[in-house]
Amino acid sequence: MTPLFTVSGLRIAIRRDLDERVVVDGVDLEVGAGETLALVGESASGKSLIALGSLDLLSPGARVVGGTTLFEGTALQGLAGDDWRRLVGMGIGVLFQDAIGAWDPLDIMGAQSGEVLDEHTELTDEEIQSRVLEALGEVGLSKRRHFLAFSHEVSRGQAQRMMLAAALLAAPRLLIADEPLSGLDITVARAVLDLIDDLRAKRGMGMLLVTHDLAIVAAVADRVAVVYSGMIVEQAPVGVLYRRPRHPYMSGLLGSVPGLVRGRLRPIRGEAPDIFEVAAGCPFAPRCDHVVERCRTERPALRVVGESMVACHRAEELELAGVG
Ligand SMILES: Nc1ncnc2c1ncn2[C@@H]1O[C@H](COP(=O)(O)OP(=O)(O)OP(=O)(O)O)[C@@H](O)[C@H]1O
Ligand code: SF4
Ligand SMILES: [Mg+2]
Repeated sequence: MTPLFTVSGLRIAIRRDLDERVVVDGVDLEVGAGETLALVGESASGKSLIALGSLDLLSPGARVVGGTTLFEGTALQGLAGDDWRRLVGMGIGVLFQDAIGAWDPLDIMGAQSGEVLDEHTELTDEEIQSRVLEALGEVGLSKRRHFLAFSHEVSRGQAQRMMLAAALLAAPRLLIADEPLSGLDITVARAVLDLIDDLRAKRGMGMLLVTHDLAIVAAVADRVAVVYSGMIVEQAPVGVLYRRPRHPYMSGLLGSVPGLVRGRLRPIRGEAPDIFEVAAGCPFAPRCDHVVERCRTERPALRVVGESMVACHRAEELELAGVG
């Protein structure tokens, strides 16, 4: 069976001043139909670069310099602008990290939500409006009021629900959600997460979920890819990863979360590296309790170890702490 979404050899360069460097160098990902893959990692590790780069949606200063993305077997990179917009617009819904900033402040949100149907379908204005109103009801918003609202008139949680309604209008088969709960307080975040996951399950959509929150991942993900300094350092089914992490970074992440760890926390020492300072060896070496000489000179490749894929020279021999 053709996988829903496959990213192979993704390479991304970013620019600072006059210098451009490749900071994501050969990332592979796959999301099956109806499956949720979570991309986790600390802030500035490159999660959004990877998620948005896979769709060629990067903001200025970053660009894709290699790799292929297949959606339902079609390569996005080979498509002309109009075909790309139709395939991505109708097939893939995107929830951006900035729920307010993603909207044009000068137009009502209801009209912006319907643009994808206006561009890619033969529906009349009345039919599009009625679809948008129906979608607003589905995400728990007041139909008329939120249809007519400007982005500065709604709360962050409402803007996120509006974005979800807009993303689902075209009945996409894949949802890419980049930190969809950022900036929401804990009760609103929980309600939005449940809504996203319920609608995803009801419609049988696949989801690429970007988050740094390991409790959210435990609640909704099937598989997890762990990002560190632009690299995937571990990838595994969620239960396997939490019980038996095989990369010291993942074990450290789990050990830093109060709700997950029994007893004393085991935080990771030191600070995450700047993605722009590409390390020669393992990027985690300066913070790793298991570092050996080889780690400082040779970059570990992602390979199969047990039920996981791990990029650590010592993955077979280390016995790392997980959570129950
Ligand atoms: N368009 C861009 N131009 C230049 N640098 C960029 C661009 N986008 C991201 N970066 C840099 O790449 C690094 C990774 O950014 P990214 O947004 O992918 O992080 P992230 O893992 O999503 O973090 P967060 O959890 O805070 O959202 C950061 O150092 C960021 O400054
Ligand atoms: S490769 Fe070496 S430094 Fe990197 S995580 Fe493994 S043991 Fe630690
Ligand atoms: Mg991000």
